[in-house]
Amino acid sequence: MKNDFTEEEKKGFYKAIYSRRDVRSHFTSKPIEDDILSKILHAAHHAPSVGFSQPWNFILIKNIETKKKIKESFNEEKNRSSQLIEDPKKSKYLSFKLEGILESPVNLCVTYDPTKFGPFVIGRSSIPEAGLYSVCCAIQNLWLSARTEGIGLGWVSILSNEILKKSLELPDHVIPVAYLCLGYVEDFAEKPDLESAGWLPRLGLKDVTYFEKWNDRENENWKGIQNRIKEDMDYA
Ligand SMILES: Cc1cc2nc3c(=O)[nH]c(=O)nc-3n(C[C@H](O)[C@H](O)[C@H](O)COP(=O)(O)O)c2cc1C
Repeated sequence: MKNDFTEEEKKGFYKAIYSRRDVRSHFTSKPIEDDILSKILHAAHHAPSVGFSQPWNFILIKNIETKKKIKESFNEEKNRSSQLIEDPKKSKYLSFKLEGILESPVNLCVTYDPTKFGPFVIGRSSIPEAGLYSVCCAIQNLWLSARTEGIGLGWVSILSNEILKKSLELPDHVIPVAYLCLGYVEDFAEKPDLESAGWLPRLGLKDVTYFEKWNDRENENWKGIQNRIKEDMDYA
């Protein structure tokens, strides 16, 4: 295939990236159509994976009893994690809406199966985590595809994996990687909720980019890009 993205298509691609949000509220009552859900899952399934191992599985959930069990686990874990911080941070943390399990029409658990096509997987023998990274690539594809279809997605990691495994009857060797809440939304926030709430700021690209070695921020051979990223360009 040629390098054939038109300018318009490139714009669409970057629009999906910059306008993607983690969504936990304001889901509408509109159900997700099967062909759209299928499209989103296909996008996830076309992610890169170490040794082409495709180590993911997707478990679609709408059963209210299952959702309630997961929500209960979320409540427990949120309270438990709040013990790690003191006020005023603690109250602020507790006031955040950090899941949309019951409000979203579709919940989706993405899992990692290290035994798929194993035990020898090309590229995974030195870095076993590469399997897990592959699942995260699938999740990102899914997230961007959902955004393109006007569907909000929220990742809930404040959960007990044990309860998740039990509720979804996962085999012992299968690892739950993400619990996601999906549904149509009216609009997507301009900024991450945690940024708007003053919890954390977005870092400058220049603060996270080094040249040739860890922590080297200035390098004669990289002047051009160094100057560009200092400006925090707006490509949205
Ligand atoms: C691995 C992972 C776990 C996350 N877990 C949660 C979560 O439990 N609850 C929540 O509200 N957001 C969760 N998020 C969403 C982040 O808070 C969000 O991505 C971040 O604040 C940036 O906002 P944005 O996604 O809208 O750009 C998670 C995101 C990732 C990548």
